Amino acid sequence: MDYDVKNLALAPQGRLKIEWAGRFMPVLASLKKKFASQKPLRGVRISACLHVTSETGNLMEALQLAGAEVRLTASNPLSTQDDVAAALVKYYRLPVFAIKGEDHKTYYRHLSSSLDHGPQITMDDGADLVSTVHSKRRPLLKGIIGGTEETTTGVIRLRSMAAKKVLFYPIIAVNDADTKHFFDNRYGTGQSTIDGILRATNILYAGLHLVIAGYGWCGRGVAMRARGAGAKVIICEVDPVRALEAVMDGFEVMPLEEAAALGDVFVTVTGDKNVITRRHFIKMRDGAIVANSGHFNVEIDIPALAALSRKKRKMRDYVEEYQLRGGKKIYLLGEGRLINLAAAEGHPAMVMDMSFANQAMSVLYLSRKGAALTKDVHPVPKEIDVEIARLKLKSMGIRIDTLTDEQKAYLAAWDEGT
Ligand SMILES: NC(=O)c1ccc[n+]([C@@H]2O[C@H](COP(=O)([O-])OP(=O)(O)OC[C@H]3O[C@@H](n4cnc5c(N)ncnc54)[C@H](O)[C@@H]3O)[C@@H](O)[C@H]2O)c1
Repeated sequence: MDYDVKNLALAPQGRLKIEWAGRFMPVLASLKKKFASQKPLRGVRISACLHVTSETGNLMEALQLAGAEVRLTASNPLSTQDDVAAALVKYYRLPVFAIKGEDHKTYYRHLSSSLDHGPQITMDDGADLVSTVHSKRRPLLKGIIGGTEETTTGVIRLRSMAAKKVLFYPIIAVNDADTKHFFDNRYGTGQSTIDGILRATNILYAGLHLVIAGYGWCGRGVAMRARGAGAKVIICEVDPVRALEAVMDGFEVMPLEEAAALGDVFVTVTGDKNVITRRHFIKMRDGAIVANSGHFNVEIDIPALAALSRKKRKMRDYVEEYQLRGGKKIYLLGEGRLINLAAAEGHPAMVMDMSFANQAMSVLYLSRKGAALTKDVHPVPKEIDVEIARLKLKSMGIRIDTLTDEQKAYLAAWDEGT
C-alpha cells in the first residue's frame, strides 16, 4: 500500500486517540452503524484533504465502513497528528500522506499522491485539493462527481472559482451548514484557540489584554472564551454590523492600529491577509504575543516582522522570539499557522461530531445526486442539517417541543392579526 507517514511505531497510541475521540462522536457513530450494514458508498473513490486528527480518523473509518476507497492527505503542514496518521495506515489500511512539519514541497507532493487513485469525490478543508485538480491534475476532472468543503476560507475560494466559471464540478459547502459553523467555528475554534495559545506559552489569561482581529463565527467564540478566562478583550473589525455586535456584546472595539499599543496577546481570525503588519508591530509592547487561528498563514505579515528584526530564536515549541532593532521582543506562535491545530489538538471531538456528520452525509448525497448538480457551490440540504441537530440533541438526552397543527397553520398564515 502507498503511504507516507512519520513513523508506523506510533500507531498504537494513534489508535487509542481515535477510539477516545470516537466516544464523543455519537452522531457519526450512528452513521457508522448504518453505513456498515448498508455499504452506501461501495467502491466510491474519495480523496480527502483534511487536518489529520483523531476526529478525522473517525470520519475516515465511517467512509471506509460505507465501502468507500479513501486516500487522506493533510490540509495544513503543521496540523497532522503523526500517531493518528500511523494508526490509519497500520490498522485501517488507509493510505495517508501527511507528516507534521512537512515543508511546502512535501505538502503538495502529498496532496498529489492522495489523488493518484482517480477520485470520484474530493473532500477539502481550504480548497487546496480542488485547486490542485483544476491546475495540475486536470485529466482527473472528467471522473469527479463532486466535492465537499469544510471551512470559510475554502468556501470563499470556491465561490470565486464558480463566479469566474472556472469550477468544473459541484461543491457542497459543509461550512455553511448551521450545525457546522454555529458550533465548530464558534465553540470549537473558541475553545481550542485559547487552548493552543495556553499550551504554547502557559500564560495567565486573567487580567491581560487580548486583541482579536475578526468578529465572525470564530472571533466571537475566541472572544467569549477569552472573557471567561478573565482576559480584557478588544475587538478589531472592518464590518460595521459585526463591530456593533461586539460593542453590544460588551467588548471594547477599536482599530488595530490603536489596539496594537495595548495588547498583550493578539489573535487573527479573519480569513484575510496582512491583517497584522509592520505598522502594528512597531507600536506593540515589548513581549507581545502574536498568533493566528484563521485558515492560512497570511494573516500575520511574518516577512515584515522578520525585516524589522535583527535576530530570531526558538524559545519553546511553537514560540519564536523576534528581537527588533531597538531591543523590543515580539513572540510569534506556531509560525502564524492555525494555533489551535499547531500547538493543541484542534477542535474537541464533541463539536467535530456534527461537522463530520455533515461531511459524511454530504458525500453520500453527492454520490447519489452529484451528477444532477450544477458546477457551483451548493448548500448542505436543510433536511441533513436538521437531522444532525436532532441526532445530536438525542445523544445528549435533550428533548424539545413540537409544533401543534394549529401552530403550524398560524405560522404559515397572514390573516390573523391583533
Ligand atoms: N482554526 C480553526 O480550526 C478554524 C475553524 C473554522 C474556521 N477557520 C478559519 O477562520 C477564518 C475565519 O472564519 P469565520 O467562520 O469566523 O469567518 P467569518 O466570515 O464569519 O468572519 C471573519 C470576520 O473577519 C472580518 N475581517 C476581515 N478582514 C478583516 C480585517 N482586515 N481586520 C479585521 N477584521 C476583518 C470580517 O469582517 C468578518 O467579520 C477563516 O479563515 C476560516 O477558514 C479556522
